[in-house]
Amino acid sequence: MTSLKPSVDLSIDHLKNITTWISNIYDLNQLLELILETGTRIMRAKASSLLLLDQKTKKLYFKVATGTKKDEVKNFAVKLGQGIAGHVAETGQPLLIEDVSRDKRWYRGISDQIGFKTRSILCVPMKVEDNVIGVIEFINKSDGESFQQNELELLTVFADLAALAILNARKFQFAERDNTVLKQDLDLKHQIIGNSKVIKQVIADAMKVADSTASTLILGESGTGKELLARLIHAASSRKNRHMVAINCSAMTESLLESELFGHEKGAFTGAGEQKIGKLELADESTLFLDEIGEMSQGMQAKLLRALQDGVFYRVGGNMPIAVDIRIIAATNRDVAEQVRTGKFREDLYYRLNVVELRMPPLRDHKEDIPLLARYFADLFKTEKASCPIEVPEATLEKMMTYDWPGNIRELRNAIERAVVMGNGRQVLPEDLSFIILDCVPPQISFGKTLKEALEDFKRQFIEVNLKNTMGNQTRAAQIMGIQRTYLSRLITQYGITKTP
Ligand SMILES: Nc1ncnc2c1ncn2[C@@H]1O[C@H](COP(=O)(O)OP(=O)(O)O)[C@@H](O)[C@H]1O
Ligand SMILES: [Mg+2]
Repeated sequence: MTSLKPSVDLSIDHLKNITTWISNIYDLNQLLELILETGTRIMRAKASSLLLLDQKTKKLYFKVATGTKKDEVKNFAVKLGQGIAGHVAETGQPLLIEDVSRDKRWYRGISDQIGFKTRSILCVPMKVEDNVIGVIEFINKSDGESFQQNELELLTVFADLAALAILNARKFQFAERDNTVLKQDLDLKHQIIGNSKVIKQVIADAMKVADSTASTLILGESGTGKELLARLIHAASSRKNRHMVAINCSAMTESLLESELFGHEKGAFTGAGEQKIGKLELADESTLFLDEIGEMSQGMQAKLLRALQDGVFYRVGGNMPIAVDIRIIAATNRDVAEQVRTGKFREDLYYRLNVVELRMPPLRDHKEDIPLLARYFADLFKTEKASCPIEVPEATLEKMMTYDWPGNIRELRNAIERAVVMGNGRQVLPEDLSFIILDCVPPQISFGKTLKEALEDFKRQFIEVNLKNTMGNQTRAAQIMGIQRTYLSRLITQYGITKTP
């Protein structure tokens, strides 16, 4: 057997090179070039090409090449099974051919067209778990010798490493692409829509505080966009490359909230089967959004304050101090200042959270934004089959402007979403919004009726309004009115009320 030395040039440097690209190079094109360059140097080949198999077309495409005709060769594609490269890709077996002119598998078309005199070829498949993703081929040794069997074995290992690196780079590319798409998606979803003076002012203030680490307290009614504002502040801050971590402080018991915030060690309490990383830890070097902070119990307030003051906390059941660097944004729809006065909210925590205070206005205070919001949501909820934007005609907008929107923008958003789903797919009509617009016309009080008759009139209208606002759901309407469902159904028959809203 010939020794490796004279024909192959595999040095420590080459190995180091290979290790580097396997672990560090995520740019696919750059990686392919490096693979081929390294391989060619090891093989001392005159020319070489790397071809990748496209699963859809079942063709091999030249991705990179070396040698005098490297640019010409890139214009070619080889069918699976065609020529030596196609044969190797199809069988998954490497091939060493000392004299191609005597091998019938050789497809001379390419060599002839580009005018390259091919004599010997060494071609290996790049495989990942038995799947061929491409081939590498080396043509003619620079010293005029033939390729050797032992070189083929070495190259097979090399090709498998290359295949792994390619797969990693591809995965990374996909992940990166997904990430960009997701981020764009998120940015879109977190746009604060509004042109009114009040909204512009809040956004301007938010931008001012974004780059400080000052704790910010966002006040405002439910559904006004407090969380959206928090996301905007985070996205405009230097921490934007980390995810903002959010937790709703009202949705759980004190002990659950504690382990959600601080995490817990395995076996810290019954049911703590696994160690859990808390939100404070997850938000390290990022922003923690504490939603509905006004609902936090006094006990939790004390624990949170301690963690914020010390910048250090312990997992429940743990004794290892954990230090974090967190920017806090808290929000509440409560009047916390009042809660502080009545002793329901700790004053020290309040001052800690309320370094900057921002206030989201209720929608009724910036009704001029309703048209913009309505059109924005109509477009957002446009179904896939709707090819053109869904219109929100003037009449619908007028109706929306007369309503007070106690649930603020969240209510408006839900209303449009339902209207788009239930509507004609082209427009949001005023009647599509009937279920949210309370037409609370006072009953006609006309002279000449008995009290009994007037009361009947009132009852009928009252029932109608309730049915309308519950989309004809009698159980729900009865609940709201505080009467039995069976009684409601009797009244409906008695007054001859039509059941569909
Ligand atoms: N100005 C706005 N532009 C677009 N969407 C908004 C706006 N304000 C609120 N929303 C949407 O309304 C819903 C409620 O907002 P959110 O931030 O959760 O309110 P809050 O935290 O004050 O209850 C969310 O779906 C949010 O995306
Ligand atoms: Mg909220």
